[in-house]
Amino acid sequence: MVDLFEKLKMEAGPLAKYSHLPDDYFFFPKLEGEVGPRMHFMGREVLNWSLNNYLGLANHPEVRKADTEATERYGLANPMGARMMSGNSVMHLEFEKQLADFVKKEDAMLLNYGYQGVVSIIDALVDRKDIIVYDAESHACIIDGVRLHIGKRFVFPHNNMENFEKQLQRATKLAEETGGGILVITEGVFGMSGDMGNLKEIVELKKKYNFRLLVDDAHGFGTMGKTGAGAGEEQGVQDQIDLYFSTFAKSMASIGAFVAGQKHILKYLRYSTRSQIFAKSLPLPLVVGGMKRLELLRTKPELKENLWKIVHALQGGLRDRGFYIGPTTSPVTPVLFKGGVGEAANMAMDLRENFHIFCSVIIYPVVPKDVIIFRIIPTAAHTMEDVEETLTAFSELKHKLDEGFYRKEELVSVTKGM
Ligand SMILES: Cc1ncc(COP(=O)(O)O)c(C=O)c1O
Repeated sequence: MVDLFEKLKMEAGPLAKYSHLPDDYFFFPKLEGEVGPRMHFMGREVLNWSLNNYLGLANHPEVRKADTEATERYGLANPMGARMMSGNSVMHLEFEKQLADFVKKEDAMLLNYGYQGVVSIIDALVDRKDIIVYDAESHACIIDGVRLHIGKRFVFPHNNMENFEKQLQRATKLAEETGGGILVITEGVFGMSGDMGNLKEIVELKKKYNFRLLVDDAHGFGTMGKTGAGAGEEQGVQDQIDLYFSTFAKSMASIGAFVAGQKHILKYLRYSTRSQIFAKSLPLPLVVGGMKRLELLRTKPELKENLWKIVHALQGGLRDRGFYIGPTTSPVTPVLFKGGVGEAANMAMDLRENFHIFCSVIIYPVVPKDVIIFRIIPTAAHTMEDVEETLTAFSELKHKLDEGFYRKEELVSVTKGM
């Protein structure tokens, strides 16, 4: 046997060879200053494209005012305890009603965190007789919820509808034997690739198969659909989504989440979602601040219009310059390059140090070894000048990559004085 902690000794991952660099450069970077397109990284201003602050609400004056006043009035403790015991309030109920109305569902339930919420919702919905069918590129909270399931689960390759139907057939056959039901889980907008779940095609199959659909629309809420109600609205199938989930961590620029659906299902979930029954409810400032955000989302369509103006300029500009950004149809903008981990690190440093642009870089093992993704997240708070600056920088980056400038395994001297 081994000592447990011995076993946990850190493995040198693909980027560990760069650990001689200043702390928190590639991992756990610290972005400082007011949340928005211009922040400070290691003491210098950077043009920041790494936040899911889609509508620019994080630093909106009305949001800041509502947050401050609510915190002053209620403090962060209020209410104490889980919703079921002592953590309920009329404002929690009011916010739930507003959220349900906004996404056109009968009822909604607040969740203290999206991740735990999704894990427990899945856990509450299925028992050993039931079968889960889910998209392979689902977010970790879905995967973890599926892991808790003690019955069968079938996965389909991302958005592959032919395979999805095959998995549905297998699930149906099995459910007939076990006497269970089928839960299908996918996302409204996928956070890495930016493409939408094929909700329209999925719900079309409800005519042939008996299943219930749970959609995690973390990236679609506030960004997609005519009113911002998400990917279901965008695809005209919101009424066919049985359980609609979104976090407040993105367009709403806050903490918390909600799930919405039919009244009797929500009632069941209120009594059965373990991560909510056994954990503290959302503090009032987050509830009151959440209502302010929802009000802005509803009443200020210009926020979403601004976002899409930036999205179109950025994605159009990248495509025009020959960049490959995959099948995105949402604000999520992945820019794909061919190259190894060393090149990725060199490019990211060049971008940060010399072009003063900060965005997330995704490398192996999240993507194959020879793929580098720079994920750009446009927001309503960005400007057309920000877009131009970024397009110019990326063109230079691509040119240098093609010339082999970043190829050395050692970090090349793209940095000044590091
Ligand atoms: C698709 C998706 N689902 C769920 C979550 C988790 O939400 P939260 O941050 O509220 O825990 C995230 C990340 O925030 C996400 O991207």
